Amino acid sequence: MSRTPQKKKNTVQTFINKKAKGEKITVLTAYDSFMASLLDKAGIDAILVGDSAANVIHGYTSTLPISMDIMLAHTAAVVRGTQKALVIADMPFLSYQPSVETAIRNAGRFLKESGSEAVKIEGGMEMVPTIKRVIECGIPVMGHIGLTPQSIHRFGGPKVQGRHDKSRAYLMESALALQDAGCFSIVLELMETTIAGEITQALDTAATIGIGAGPDCDGQVLVINDMLGLRDEHFKPKFLREYANLPPIILNAVKRYIDDVTRGDFPNENESYSSS
Ligand code: KIV
Repeated sequence: MSRTPQKKKNTVQTFINKKAKGEKITVLTAYDSFMASLLDKAGIDAILVGDSAANVIHGYTSTLPISMDIMLAHTAAVVRGTQKALVIADMPFLSYQPSVETAIRNAGRFLKESGSEAVKIEGGMEMVPTIKRVIECGIPVMGHIGLTPQSIHRFGGPKVQGRHDKSRAYLMESALALQDAGCFSIVLELMETTIAGEITQALDTAATIGIGAGPDCDGQVLVINDMLGLRDEHFKPKFLREYANLPPIILNAVKRYIDDVTRGDFPNENESYSSS
C-alpha cells in the first residue's frame, strides 16, 4: 500500500519557484528523526542529510570514512521525522566517483531504501556526465562546488575558493554546466562573496545554497550541530553564526542527574511503580 504524500510537501519545484520569486531558501542538516521533526515543525524548506555526519555524529576528522549504509540509515531516520521539508541525501565519498553505473545505483538506493527525494553530489564540470545520467534516471541532484570536503586533501585544507581569476572561471563554468545537466540547486561552499553573487545571477533555474559564500545566494545552509553550539571548541569558521549554545545546558542537566542519583534522590516515589 502506498503512503499518500502530504499535499503541501516541498519538492525540487519549491526551490525553483522560490528562486524565481526571489524568496530565500532555508536548509539545515539533520541526521536523526527527532531533530528532523523539529526542523520540519519550525518550517525549514529542506533538510540535507550531510556526510558531515562523519564529523559531527561519528567523530571523524573528515567526511571521507562514512559509508553508504550509514548514510542510508541516517537518511531513513530523517525521512521518518519529516512531513513537509524536502529531504536531500548526501552521497558519500566513493559512492559516485568510480563510475556512472556506481553513481546511479547508489543514488537510486537513497530514493528506494531511505525515501529521500533528492541526492547531493560534490564536484564541478568534471562530474557533469555522471550527474546528467543520474538525473536522466529520474533522481533530482543538488550540485556542490567551491570547497568540496571530500576533496579536502587535494585542496590542502579549508581554503576560500574564487579568490583568483582561474578559480572564479572554474566555479562559474562549473555552475553553468551543472545547471545545464539539470541540477535543481547547487551548494556554494566557502567561496569569495562576489563570485557567489555572480553565479547566483547567472543561473536562472538552479538555486544557489550558500555556506560561507556570503549573502547573495538564493538560500543558505548550516550544519545543525554547529549552529546549536554542539561542535569542537576549536572549530569556529567566520561564516558560522551560533544560534544557541547547548553544551552548558546539557552539561548542567547531566551533572544534576549524576548528583540526584548519587544522593538517592532519583527516582523518587512519584517516579516509581507501586504494586497496584
Ligand atoms: O555534509 C554537509 O553537511 C554539507 C553541507 C555543509 C553543505 O555538505
